[in-house]
Amino acid sequence: MRQKTSERMAALARPVTNLASGWYVALPSAELRRKPRQATLFGNAYVAWRGDDGRAHVQSAVCPHAGAALYGGKVVGGTLECPFHRWRFDDSGACVSVPGRRPPARAAVTPLPTRECSGYVWVWYGSGPPRYEPPDLPDLQARRFPSTRSFRLADPTRATTRRILENTYDPDHLVALHGLTVAGEARITIPTTRETPNGTAADTGPEERCDATLTWPSYRGPLGAVSNVFGLNADEFTLRLRGWASCQEIEYFADGRRLYRMVLAVTPIGEHHSVQHISAAVDADGAGIVGWLRALVHRAEVQVAARQDLPVFDTLLPGDRHGIYVPGDEAVRRFRRFYQQWVELAQRG
Ligand code: FES
Ligand SMILES: [Fe+2]
Repeated sequence: MRQKTSERMAALARPVTNLASGWYVALPSAELRRKPRQATLFGNAYVAWRGDDGRAHVQSAVCPHAGAALYGGKVVGGTLECPFHRWRFDDSGACVSVPGRRPPARAAVTPLPTRECSGYVWVWYGSGPPRYEPPDLPDLQARRFPSTRSFRLADPTRATTRRILENTYDPDHLVALHGLTVAGEARITIPTTRETPNGTAADTGPEERCDATLTWPSYRGPLGAVSNVFGLNADEFTLRLRGWASCQEIEYFADGRRLYRMVLAVTPIGEHHSVQHISAAVDADGAGIVGWLRALVHRAEVQVAARQDLPVFDTLLPGDRHGIYVPGDEAVRRFRRFYQQWVELAQRG
């Protein structure tokens, strides 16, 4: 069902208009095997494929010969072969083989800067080459994190990338929408901007990250009294966020003890068509059954929270609009300013 929805959305994709320059998820690594895959990104059709050496590539999907979709082809000798007349393209996008004749000089497809790490295949969006390498995010599905305690979600939504990412900077919705049981308002801590001894930010470009820490008093766990039994109550609940313009690492702590962590990333299919990717791992410390039950409680918390966000995301007004700000929106406001700096970079020709 989810796949069908994504495909339907892909067919409707319009080019994105307010997208930050950055690294975006083309698809989870586990979904790219031997066969080339279709990937609709930024409103355009791409093909993702692996060379014989296992490296992932993402290139425009339209064959320059007669326009066949290259994701219908196959990988042959480390090249991608079009299904229609068997022209072959290498990982740089150049046409390197045409049956019976020399490849036309200008025959090529456009490759996107592609990297594979943290369990995902990432592509760079923006004018010019990548301004930084993909963030050093943990691969939370890797074997060192026991599988019963880690999981991955991929949900289509009509929300824009900015809307998806700014949600984490919004402490009030955690209480109002997700029912976080705390005794007061969040304290928002935002690190000071970097030192620029030899110039201003205008000289060096925007900062790479927009981090924030949100701290609430007296956390009572996701399930109130039930959480008591598992010792989840705490005097302090903390959300620690390392945020880039296109993805995040989020950690949740109770009295300094980490409960779980998440990687949040986005596939911008097109204008108002995105996939929200969550990779999460629960730190179930505590022996035996109690630790296991704790892990289940927190896992349910993350999954339920995602299901609560998505229906609201889908009703948000089109466009990355601003609204009326209150003190609890301080971090959202900060992130929006940061995000728009990276949008400007993407739009510079
Ligand atoms: S359309 Fe691709 S080789 Fe002819
Ligand atoms: Fe949320």
